Amino acid sequence: MNTMAALLYLSVSLLLEPVVAGGVKNCHPQCRCEVESFGLFDSFSLTKVDCSRMGPGTAPVPIPLDTSYLDLSFNSIGSITDSMLSGPGYTTLVSLDLSNNDISRVSSHAFSKLRYLETLDLSHNSLDSLPNGCFSGLPLVEVDLGDNSFQEFNLDMFTTRGQETPISVDLSNNMLTVVTRNSQSQHLYIKTLVLASNRLTTVPDLAGIPLQYLNLDGNPISQIEEGAFEDMKDLVYLSLSSIPQLSIIQPYSFRGLRSLQVLDLSNNSQLKSLSPDVFAGLLSLQELNLSKSAITPLPNTVLNHMPNIKSITLGPNMHCWKTHKQGQFHRQIGEAKVNDILTCSVAGLIL
Ligand SMILES: *[C@@H]1O[C@H](CO)[C@@H](O)[C@H](O)[C@H]1NC(C)=O
Ligand SMILES: *[C@@H]1O[C@H](CO)[C@@H](O)[C@H](O)[C@H]1NC(C)=O
Repeated sequence: MNTMAALLYLSVSLLLEPVVAGGVKNCHPQCRCEVESFGLFDSFSLTKVDCSRMGPGTAPVPIPLDTSYLDLSFNSIGSITDSMLSGPGYTTLVSLDLSNNDISRVSSHAFSKLRYLETLDLSHNSLDSLPNGCFSGLPLVEVDLGDNSFQEFNLDMFTTRGQETPISVDLSNNMLTVVTRNSQSQHLYIKTLVLASNRLTTVPDLAGIPLQYLNLDGNPISQIEEGAFEDMKDLVYLSLSSIPQLSIIQPYSFRGLRSLQVLDLSNNSQLKSLSPDVFAGLLSLQELNLSKSAITPLPNTVLNHMPNIKSITLGPNMHCWKTHKQGQFHRQIGEAKVNDILTCSVAGLIL
């Protein structure tokens, strides 16, 4: 009987505990919360909160303290106010998913409390701009703005605040020195930027940031101009695919992309010819995708510009890869010369 009473007490007290879902305190009833533990003796843990598809009118939602990952996708949020993402729990977020929310407006301090935020997904919304400085001071590494309505894009959202409010005024020595927010030093960590399926008509100027991955697929860019990617020396992956408007890529367009390893130019039906000099400067390029783009023939001198190319895809069943061909034995010099040639899966294809 004593045991029964103890069990009964235990189960009643469990019911009376504050809401605990998957071991997480204060999990909103419409969210799913879980803690993932890592490391020796589970010494390190991350709280993941999934509040997707809760329905309209539910944001802002209270989340557990120490939340690292938050999914707020598919909630018809519409606009993000300054207070929506500022409650307890939000300050520790490392990753936030706001995709598929019909978001058309973001107020300028909406993200200012998210000072550990590294990954932000704002894709599949109705944004055509973001306020200047709205990402200022955040350690963002990865931002997805795909499937929105941006017609232009610049880095002001990462750096300057809209108003140049003076933060100090110095009147000593009869000289006026005004220090504005703009003169504060900026540290940008952004490595991945997705701008696919927007309304950009030119390649945005992204010089001066440590970007490694850039996706501009599906934007109505008709022409890529010489030096369009100048100063993007850290870029490793560039995708310019599925752009029916793209008909011209000027020579030296990719100049300066000295770390680029993968270039996707596939599915561009109006891209009919490319001069070998288009590829000038692509010293690290390993993979080039020209599948479903109408470029034939590809001049064989392209290889001179891409000393590290390993594979070129020309179509679903047309693939070329680099092989070494042993050259003539040079008796005088006493060494074999190695020539690189492209071998293609389709017989008779001449590059
Ligand atoms: C190719 O591009 C067209 C638009 O021109 C798009 O509708 C289609 O989905 C793309 N195909 C692939 C395989 O990406
Ligand atoms: C090249 O692009 C096509 C069409 O976008 C895609 O289906 C294919 O997987 C790509 N191939 C490689 C090797 O990346």
